Amino acid sequence: MLRMQAVTSLLIKSLIIFFLVLSQSPAIAKEGMWIPATLKDHEKEMKSMGLQIPIDQLYNASGTGLNNAIVLFGRGCTGEIISASGLILTNHHCGYGSAQGLSTAENDYFANGFWAPNMQGELPCKGLTVTFIRRMENVSQQILEGLKDTMRDSFRDTVISLRIAALEKEFRTKTGMDASIKPYFDGNQYWVAITETYRDIRLVGFPPNGIGAFGGDVENWIWPRHTGDFSIFRVYAGGDNRPADYAGSNKPYKAEEFFKINTSGYKEGDFTMVYGFPGTTREYISSYELSQVYNVTDPISIEARNRRLDIWTKHMGWTRSNFLKYTSKRAGVANGWKKWQGELLGLKANDVVGKKQAYERTFQQWADTCKAVPYAKDILPQMRTAAEIATPILTQEQYIKEGVLGIEIVQQGAAFDNVMACFRLGLSQDALRDTLTKLVTGMEGFYKNYDPKTDQDVFISLMVLYFNKCTSWIPDEFKDQYRAHDQDVNVWAADVFKRSMLTSMAPLKEFATNAKPGDSTKLQADPAWRLYNAIATIRKQKITPVLKDYISRMRYLDRLYTNAQMQEYKNKTFYPDANLTLRLTYGQVKGLDPEGPAPYSFQTNLKEVVALDDTASDIFRVPKKLKELYAAKDYGRWGVNGTMPVAFVASNHTSGGNSGSPVLNAKGELIGTNFDRAYEGTMSDYYFDPTRCRNISVDIRYTLFIIDKFGGAGWLIDEMNIVKGKKTVAAKAKK
Ligand code: ARG
Ligand code: GLU
Repeated sequence: MLRMQAVTSLLIKSLIIFFLVLSQSPAIAKEGMWIPATLKDHEKEMKSMGLQIPIDQLYNASGTGLNNAIVLFGRGCTGEIISASGLILTNHHCGYGSAQGLSTAENDYFANGFWAPNMQGELPCKGLTVTFIRRMENVSQQILEGLKDTMRDSFRDTVISLRIAALEKEFRTKTGMDASIKPYFDGNQYWVAITETYRDIRLVGFPPNGIGAFGGDVENWIWPRHTGDFSIFRVYAGGDNRPADYAGSNKPYKAEEFFKINTSGYKEGDFTMVYGFPGTTREYISSYELSQVYNVTDPISIEARNRRLDIWTKHMGWTRSNFLKYTSKRAGVANGWKKWQGELLGLKANDVVGKKQAYERTFQQWADTCKAVPYAKDILPQMRTAAEIATPILTQEQYIKEGVLGIEIVQQGAAFDNVMACFRLGLSQDALRDTLTKLVTGMEGFYKNYDPKTDQDVFISLMVLYFNKCTSWIPDEFKDQYRAHDQDVNVWAADVFKRSMLTSMAPLKEFATNAKPGDSTKLQADPAWRLYNAIATIRKQKITPVLKDYISRMRYLDRLYTNAQMQEYKNKTFYPDANLTLRLTYGQVKGLDPEGPAPYSFQTNLKEVVALDDTASDIFRVPKKLKELYAAKDYGRWGVNGTMPVAFVASNHTSGGNSGSPVLNAKGELIGTNFDRAYEGTMSDYYFDPTRCRNISVDIRYTLFIIDKFGGAGWLIDEMNIVKGKKTVAAKAKK
């Protein structure tokens, strides 16, 4: 009896565990960034996960899909059209550069935000473009016909680029639009995208940094998150609604397709999609290539940037001028630095290298006996050999890139290459001075944001790193300079910064205005330039040729390997690595609990933002008006039972480039704007783990609240098509 009870209880226990595992298993989270034109293959699964609209509404070949409401924003972000008059929603950090171009001391949009009072008040953004993807077609047949997989890349590439050029031209003529053909699956497939690029884009709304960049680098890559990372632009078109250069007479772009906005919210587990332009992922690479990321490039970059960022941060705290000089540079350097740390953490936690090695053993067994793909068995051994040769060189290159060239004055030596070249032209003295002056004037941008004292400290720290790590590879010039300064790096650094012309504009200008034809010897004596030149030489002679070979060898082998994997797992649906083309990914709203027990929810709110307020901090200072709105709970129609949602996480597979992407509910309605990933899951560029990988989005209700109540730009809301649940609340959009 007792025994019986024990067995029954054991059985019940295991059943409970079984169901617990089942209910917790991330059955719904899905890895993959799918080409819109292949979504039909996923219809059944997407529907079973919650999709409530036909795939045709997301994309169709006749050109009426929601893909027409998405743009590649600038060169590396995504934006979505949210009104019939071409209003674009994207991230604050995606609009940052444009806002910087328009901002002045009197009109400081970072401090005060910008809200156009009407269409006439919208501000043209020089150089900004947005690109629509009208249609995509698989053209692999035309591009690859007759080309054997194992054909030498040099020959194959030539044929392919000729075919691409001819076919793109054909598409352009046929469609009257632009066409671009890109490789997918490491060159095993080719797809054409028929595109339209609009060139008259205007700034409409931009929250101040206290909202749009709230939390700055501290909260970057972190969940929970409190940033209202959005901004608003508008597309303008020529008379025929087609792309046109900026003109006062251009009209707002008439959008046939734009997103409905749903303000009824979401709950954990709800189906979501992210539709946008992920930049780069490498999910199919071998353990050899991944080991290089894991053991070489990521750790060295982090190690070197630790030093650089420490010193920059210290100096930025000393003077306001240093702060301004380095704040934007610091953001860029810190963004990668933090992402790679998350990446290493995730790769380690999942033992991704180990998993890949196990996967490769299975692959090898299959390959050894596979007759259909005779080359398969040689792929991994060849990769291994290639990687073994390249890894030590890659290590040197990484210390040079992140170490030596992280010293700005050495990197700036590159600018002397052009200056030197001028001397070789045999110009008259006047012409020489004139040309040099122009060249030197071009360096103003760099020196505006440069502080030699800061850089001198970086020099010391990074040189020590380089000398410690690269020993026998260190060029003689470095050793000679070091020895000539009593082997004291402080003395050495002080002397370089005292003697080099590259520390500021003044000596460069003086050199240019007084230059005589023989003066290139003065450049050659410059200690900073000599360091740069020694590095350039060692790269040219010993590093670049090896790495170039390695990269082209791996490109070839990666193509074969990806192809072979697709042959091995015929029943698996593969998705191509990201390549900055339009993709749709789907998952679910899901909190993040990396360490457990559940410290994080799936949503943040304004109360938490205000609790973080720190008037002494540049990044955590909540704007006064926002605090007043919070105190009065004046959320208009955007609040939810007296609270104001701010950001949320979901398990969609996204990457850099997905910034600004529309986050959609089961009906394809907009519920948020994607802007980041959680630290624990940034390894998703190599390996997607649904328990750790999360995309972070601004809740659309926060966006609307800020536009309406904070920005006082209700006229924009009137343009939008806002639905709550099934009921249309305001549908003034004239379609
Ligand atoms: N991590 C995000 C991305 O990769 C946001 C970067 C901008 N924000 C920042 N605090 N630097 O682009
Ligand atoms: N912030 C990134 C971007 O600018 C998106 C975050 C990510 O890498 O997922 O594209």
